[in-house]
Parts: sequence; structure tokens; C-alpha cells
Amino acid sequence: MRLGEDKGRSAASRQHVAVMVDEATALVRAPNPLVIVDATVGLGGHAAAMLEATDAHLLGLDRDAAALEAAADNLARFGSRVTLRHADFRSLDEVLDECGIPCVGAILADLGMSSYALDDPARGFSFRFDGPLDMRMDRREPLTAYDLVNEESEEELARIFYEYGEERGARRIARAIVAARRRRPLETTTDLRLLVEGVAGHVRIGGINPATRVFQALRIAVNRELESLNALLDRAPHRLAVGGRLVILAYHSLEDRPVKRRFRELAQGGGFSLVTRKALRPSPAEVASNPRARSARLRCLERCAS
Ligand SMILES: C[S@@+](CC[C@H](N)C(=O)[O-])C[C@H]1O[C@@H](n2cnc3c(N)ncnc32)[C@H](O)[C@@H]1O
Repeated sequence: MRLGEDKGRSAASRQHVAVMVDEATALVRAPNPLVIVDATVGLGGHAAAMLEATDAHLLGLDRDAAALEAAADNLARFGSRVTLRHADFRSLDEVLDECGIPCVGAILADLGMSSYALDDPARGFSFRFDGPLDMRMDRREPLTAYDLVNEESEEELARIFYEYGEERGARRIARAIVAARRRRPLETTTDLRLLVEGVAGHVRIGGINPATRVFQALRIAVNRELESLNALLDRAPHRLAVGGRLVILAYHSLEDRPVKRRFRELAQGGGFSLVTRKALRPSPAEVASNPRARSARLRCLERCAS
């Protein structure tokens, strides 16, 4: 699906229920920020709540042009209080410099994917739908999941599945992919799902289809998600004003571990304090109404006078 075609999608299909909105908004509102960065504006759920709860200007970033288009619609009522940029949050410094903003009162990053992109078959993120092996969040980037699956070495594929998917059958799956693609390229999400199920079984004890881990791993590799997160963790704390807060919502341990480690290092080094000593978790009521919230972990760091 190209960007223009997205306009044809119904409003109902542009859905993503924002996670831990009240908790994130309360943390962001406390320092009474003049400028808030939403580093993953998505469809604008958190952004709208933060704009309603403060008088701040909001700078919203997203790698996904289709999400930004939806955010522009959903945040239109806030008028000139909102600036949107099509950018990876790894470029936070460059975007802030271009906008002439030296430091900000709050930065929120709600990591991962929006359900909006995940549920779009044409984006190829989910094995639940048949679609091309694409998986790019930013469709200006050249590398797709098709390229990795059909061209990467067996060793590198096994590393990706093991490190980013924590998949125990990583080697067997990588070997089967390399054998299959000698006959013909793997073109679609269904080609890959069937291959993985053939090697690793249909549904494992615990109920997770092995394709879940393989698809997560490929998505992380295609979008270099952990590199982006590490760049954000290096840069964002230093763009906070004194009293400013960095709030990060992570959905799996590969994301939460570096956040926890970096926040601890900064707090121990002085100049920052942990607002959340332990990660906040969603309430049972939120998990019941939005299963996607189940794995969320929210952490908050504050810049102090040094
Ligand atoms: C979980 S969704 C955010 C949902 C949003 N908080 C809302 O309320 O609608 C994550 C969003 O972050 C974007 N994203 C992921 N990695 C990114 C990165 N490195 N830089 C910028 N945006 C990113 C995705 O495209 C997606 O739209």
C-alpha cells in the first residue's frame, strides 16, 4: 500500500488503543512542560492526552508516514500547538536543532508498532495476514524483510532469530529458509509462516505460534530497532530541561532491558533521578480491555539540577 492509498482506509481501520495513557500523562504533566516531544506519535493517542492535560507545544515524530498522516487528522483540533516530523527518533538531536529547540520539558517514547500498521496486510508485519515480506516502518528505507529472508547468510538469520526473537529453533529455521530459497524465493508472509510452522510445529505449549518470534525478530532487524533505541537513550536525557522527564513504554525485555540499564547508569552518574524505581505495569482493568497492554513496562527518568 502506498501512502496515497491509505486515505481510502476507513476511519475504523485506523485504530490503536494507547497504553497506560493516564500514567504516562501524569508523569509528563508534573514538570509543567513548555515543549513535549512524542518520539513515537503513532495515531496520536498519547499526544492528544498530553495536549489536553498541559498547555505545552507538542513535537511528534514517527518513522511511519501513514501513522503521521493519521496523527495529523487526529490532532488537527490542537492547531498550531502541534508540529509533526517524519523522522526516526534516533535523529532527535537533529530534529530539535532544526526546530530551534535546545531542551524540552518531557519526552515520551511508546516503543514498537501500532496495531494500525500491524493489522495492515500490505505492510507484511503480521503472519496472521497474507502480504509481501516488507516490514519497513519507514518505506523510504531500502532494506525489506524479503531481502533478509532471501539474501542473508544462514548464520546471520540464525543470529537474528535467536537474539531478537529468543527463538530456540533459530538454527533449524535458518537452515530451512536457506534450503527453501534455493528452489524459489520466499515472497509472502504466508510462505514464511508455513515454512516456520513446518520446522518448529504449529503451536507450542504455552500457545505461541513459533512464527510470532521469527516475525518479531525480522521486524527488529529490518528496522534496526535496538540501534534506534540505544541512540535515543544516549541523546534524549541530555535534551531534557532541569525537572524534565523521559518516559519510555516498552513491550518486551529486549527493549526494556536497555532502558532499565541506561536509566540506572544515568541516575548513578548524577544529574538524573529515577522517578519509577520499578517499572509501572498496566492495571488489570486495562489489560482486560486491551490485551496489547499486558506486556507494557513504563519507566521514567528525571533530569535534576547538577
Ligand atoms: C506503539 S506505537 C505508538 C502509538 C502512540 N503512542 C499512540 O497513542 O497512537 C509506536 C509508533 O512508533 C513508531 N516508531 C517505532 N520506532 C520508531 C523510531 N525509531 N522512530 C520514530 N518512530 C518510531 C511506529 O511507527 C509507531 O507508529
